[in-house]
Amino acid sequence: MIDERGAHEPPGRPRFHFTPPAGWLNDPNGLVFDGGEYHLCYQHHPDDDVWGPMHWGHAVSRDLVRWEHLPVALAPDELGWIYSGSAVVDHDGTAGFGRGALVAVFTHASAEGQAQSLAFSCDRGRTWRTDPGNPVLPPPAGEPDFRDPKVFRWSQGGASHWVMVLAAGRRVLVHTSPDLRHWTLSSELVPRIAEEASWETPDLFPLRVDGTGDERWVLSLGVMAGAPSGGTGTGYLVGDFDGHVFTPDGDEVLWADHGPDFYAAQSWNDVPSGERVWIAWMSNWRYADRVPSTGWRGVMTVSRRLGLTRTAGGPRLTQVPVAALDACRAPRLSGHDVVLPGAGDVLDGVRCRHFDLTLRIRVDRSAASHLELHTMVGGDERTAIVYDLAASTLSIDRSRAGTAAFHREHPTSAAAPVEPRDGRVTVRVLGDECSVEVFANDGVASLSALVYPAPRRDGFALRAAGGTVVLETIELFELSP
Ligand code: FRU
Repeated sequence: MIDERGAHEPPGRPRFHFTPPAGWLNDPNGLVFDGGEYHLCYQHHPDDDVWGPMHWGHAVSRDLVRWEHLPVALAPDELGWIYSGSAVVDHDGTAGFGRGALVAVFTHASAEGQAQSLAFSCDRGRTWRTDPGNPVLPPPAGEPDFRDPKVFRWSQGGASHWVMVLAAGRRVLVHTSPDLRHWTLSSELVPRIAEEASWETPDLFPLRVDGTGDERWVLSLGVMAGAPSGGTGTGYLVGDFDGHVFTPDGDEVLWADHGPDFYAAQSWNDVPSGERVWIAWMSNWRYADRVPSTGWRGVMTVSRRLGLTRTAGGPRLTQVPVAALDACRAPRLSGHDVVLPGAGDVLDGVRCRHFDLTLRIRVDRSAASHLELHTMVGGDERTAIVYDLAASTLSIDRSRAGTAAFHREHPTSAAAPVEPRDGRVTVRVLGDECSVEVFANDGVASLSALVYPAPRRDGFALRAAGGTVVLETIELFELSP
């Protein structure tokens, strides 16, 4: 169906999400903090808005919210295109580029195969040179998929070395090295998942379990098919890591985000606060190259601080937008003890397209069956966020969100289980030009989705069905970095 604007009305630029200056963007790459700056490189085709010869685009930020574009960091060379990878600060100069050099470890991809290579910068990432010794880790014979190295420094007691996790088809390989140049295979893992999917873009990092101080390790993975709302998604396992071997608690792959558009997530190395922050490409390989475009295509999620929370099933990942986003908020509306359905909708007449809205819902199962929040409302368009009080599920329904005709799989809905905590569910929604990101109960669940409403679709509505619902609090802010 073609909507009133035609199928390909292009989106405006997001206000508080990262997009490329022009051309195509996919995975985040080379995430590292150095000298007060967070580096964000990304899979980039500068000359076209579809995937092609891969470069590393580059930007820096001091707060993970406002980004400054820098020149392309890495471009295809005689060894191939520049696929995904990571970056470290080589504080001790182990690779021979000098103390404190930034070293990028990435995949060179060509008709001959996929191999890991190095590039370095001694001027705070302003210029990069590839290493004459590339590649430093060629693929084993007969291994066509061998890519996306995530490198970090592992230290315990007096021991310390570099660790690389990379994806090789359905295997995740751990290599170790003293100098980023000589790599030894330490272990391999074959995570199980129902569908015949293979892996990409692994990450491996420690987190403390809330309220216990216990340290556990999380292995995250881009899963190429069979994600909860279809297509590609980000899975993870919780376990232990001894510097060489990751041992998962169980072999069931969990989902980091239940929305359709959360892929290739990567975390920053060397964040000074010790916090773990990641970002993902907000898209799905099912339709990434078809979404409306005006010369740029591809958007990142907001940067999110990670945690682990205890549950009956074991520790589970939590993610919330970084606190720096709070500084970009201007209050628009707040209320408490709002009873729905009521005399009038509290959100009636409020218009805002770039927002941060939080509802604290009192959950009384004898009352309403579900609560619907409509955002980006206008004409017959709306993006619905629904909490089903009986089933304890939170969902995004984008079937009427706007332009969708570019792909039949786009107008889907997605749901995550969200149990009330102390009889309450808190739902936080970040809405920008072409996306919604929903976080429940301090990030125990998140759902990220691309949406393409027409310009000026910026209204709201609240609906309760099957009885009354009490909103203990409602808070709306306009977001402008
Ligand atoms: C994941 C991915 C990576 C690869 C890159 C190529 O989205 O397929 O495995 O390195 O994108 O752009």
